[in-house]
Amino acid sequence: MKTSELIWQDKQHQVLLELIEQIISSNGDASIFRQLYEYAENHFSLEEEYMIKLNFPEAEEHIRAHDKFRSELESMMQEFTSYDELFRKALAEFLSEWLKGHIYGIDKKLEAFILKSPYK
Ligand SMILES: [Fe+2]
Ligand SMILES: [Fe+2]
Repeated sequence: MKTSELIWQDKQHQVLLELIEQIISSNGDASIFRQLYEYAENHFSLEEEYMIKLNFPEAEEHIRAHDKFRSELESMMQEFTSYDELFRKALAEFLSEWLKGHIYGIDKKLEAFILKSPYK
């Protein structure tokens, strides 16, 4: 694993920003849920793989946070009835909060840990 390969994490986070923009500007295409779900699963799996491989000390807490997101998204998908503006706003807000709280927080810690890992 080389330092330059860490770009994957930033690149994937950028995808979430694009998904938020799509949600805000979309006009009723609920397939965004599938995209979000697949995106989250792929991204979380990759971060979790690195955490386990490198014995990241905060892996348990980090994976718990991913699981919370997974279940919140799942319940939003189940409770969803209409993909109207109100709903899209709520979804975009949920994702923006995640971006601020998780990606700019705990994910940065993981990034720093991977960067100084002797195995990279
Ligand atoms: Fe992440
Ligand atoms: Fe994460």
